[in-house]
Amino acid sequence: MLIRIPRRSEPKPSEITPKAVYEDRRRFLRTAAVAGAGAAFPALWWSGPAVAGRKLPGVRHNAQYSTDEEWTDYDDVTSYNNFYELGTGKDDPKRNARRLKTRPWSIAVEGECEKPGVYDLEDFIQPYALEERVYRLRCVEAWSMVIPWVGFELRRVLERARPTSRAKFVAFESVYDPKHLPGQKRRILDWPYREGLRIDEAMHPLTILAVGLYGEVLPNQNGAPLRLVVPWKYGFKSAKSIVRIRFTETQPPTAWNTASPHEYGFYSNVNPAVDHPRWSQKKERRIGEFFKRRTLPFNGYAEEVAHLYAGMDLRKYY
Ligand code: MTE
Repeated sequence: MLIRIPRRSEPKPSEITPKAVYEDRRRFLRTAAVAGAGAAFPALWWSGPAVAGRKLPGVRHNAQYSTDEEWTDYDDVTSYNNFYELGTGKDDPKRNARRLKTRPWSIAVEGECEKPGVYDLEDFIQPYALEERVYRLRCVEAWSMVIPWVGFELRRVLERARPTSRAKFVAFESVYDPKHLPGQKRRILDWPYREGLRIDEAMHPLTILAVGLYGEVLPNQNGAPLRLVVPWKYGFKSAKSIVRIRFTETQPPTAWNTASPHEYGFYSNVNPAVDHPRWSQKKERRIGEFFKRRTLPFNGYAEEVAHLYAGMDLRKYY
């Protein structure tokens, strides 16, 4: 496991906030930490314009859902990215990260549910205790990483919204801001970036909304302020910088499936037996390693999720 030395540029909380507020907050955080499992996310800590990289307090490691494989180096996780809104090169998202404005930020929960709503980011996150989950992420381009995410289960959000019996899918929409986001000035994809899950996939405890990684607030290039992480599917299902969550009765359109349906199916479960039309999916390059490794069905999460697809022909539903 890696130990990271804090960067010098990281502001101390005492530098950002007036002393009285800071001390109050310290007191609140201590109480929240003692409160344990029920502790909600301390909204105060979250506020402020430039929070990426700030340490997240009160995060509990979830060993049950974490792999004990070696974490991918922090610099690789945050500088080798796919985030087409910020450019198509792997190093573009980090270089253009400042273009993504993450404050103010609101999230709409809508569609087939009894309690729709539009929430400020702080209010949206506040009810949930944060956990660290170390997941494998396998990109459709045949590379992979191991990332210690910080977040909470998506199902908690969905349950609060009380989906109706007609809700069969959940659609996600990423930020749309062509004025600031260089990639959205070109029609590389049909913007905004969209993804979707079947409702049982969305309710699965492995599916999380991440607000951080490596114990810190999510860097913009990794999908700040809020992104999906679905570890048994190719990375593109994990939509970044989410602004809308919608319950639907029918299968929602998704960005990559719309762009190239014969290459990117709706399900996109990691499946070494189904090649991408232009390359094999049998092996992958773990970033930071020299030799390729064998790709596992469902990215190694078969025991947890294979039952969701019982009776389905996964060559047809790729
Ligand atoms: N979400 C948005 N909005 N835009 C994107 O271009 N790329 C996807 C996914 N989510 C993408 C996105 C792809 S292809 C991958 S592999 C993962 O984000 C990469 O996440 P990471 O850069 O944090 O590793």
